[in-house]
Amino acid sequence: MTRFAGQVAFITGGAMGFGRAFAEALGREGAAVVLADLDEAVAQETAAALRAEGIDALAVTCDVADESQVEAAIATTVAEHGGIDILINNAGLHLTKYNQPFSVLDRADVRALFDVNVMGVVNCTVAAAAAMKERGGGRVVNIASMASNGSTSPYGVSKLAVRGLTIAFAHELAASGIRCNAISPGLIRTANAIADLPQELVDSIVHGKQLIPRLGEIDDIVTMMLYLCSDDSSFITGETFRVSGGMPLSI
Ligand SMILES: NC(=O)c1ccc[n+]([C@@H]2O[C@H](COP(=O)([O-])OP(=O)(O)OC[C@H]3O[C@@H](n4cnc5c(N)ncnc54)[C@H](O)[C@@H]3O)[C@@H](O)[C@H]2O)c1
Repeated sequence: MTRFAGQVAFITGGAMGFGRAFAEALGREGAAVVLADLDEAVAQETAAALRAEGIDALAVTCDVADESQVEAAIATTVAEHGGIDILINNAGLHLTKYNQPFSVLDRADVRALFDVNVMGVVNCTVAAAAAMKERGGGRVVNIASMASNGSTSPYGVSKLAVRGLTIAFAHELAASGIRCNAISPGLIRTANAIADLPQELVDSIVHGKQLIPRLGEIDDIVTMMLYLCSDDSSFITGETFRVSGGMPLSI
């Protein structure tokens, strides 16, 4: 399928994990993909690997927490490709240390977490939306987390803010033809997420908290991301979709 032929996708945290998979999936369906990542070396490597697959991929170095770096990365994308149609706000800090109580985590860590996970979404959405408006519309997909459901940890609160921003930007950008939705992944097999967790904890989540007792795979999230970027979801904005094997279900 080439559902995204002629479109340009800006993917934060595109060097590895979900971001790389999102870039690959959108690229395989015809989009030009821009990998905006803090890690220049890995982003360049990933972009080269995608180009070897025939995907139009570009790496740009950018800290999403830094407004001026984000604006420069968006400007580079527009100069290179003529505009932006899709923004995936995926870059995020998720180490287990961010699950400690606020009273235990250093205030500097709390600030860094909110700068990346929350302000990163604000910086990228505002800058990318300005470019999308020039094209008459676009789509934003934010990566939240199941940790936002009833969580009191700094990480969970940062991801609850991502869901709030999804609603706020859906309102703010609707008149410009821009839809904004989010995905709350459960526990998904990405190298960094799994490496950071003890096996007993992984087992207790998969077998104790999910209705579908298997570890989530990146493709489970990619499928939802493609749906939210495509016209199949043209009547949907402001929503967060859980993809978690039925983790704690609540209304
Ligand atoms: N893997 C999971 O199980 C899971 C579950 C729920 C939510 N998430 C969320 O999904 C997103 C991606 O997770 P992942 O497992 O693929 O992570 P990852 O650690 O594998 O990759 C994250 C990427 O983001 C980049 N990055 C980090 N800080 C950045 C910054 N300030 N500016 C630009 N780039 C930056 C990193 O260099 C890296 O390439 C995160 O927002 C995470 O919170 C992951």
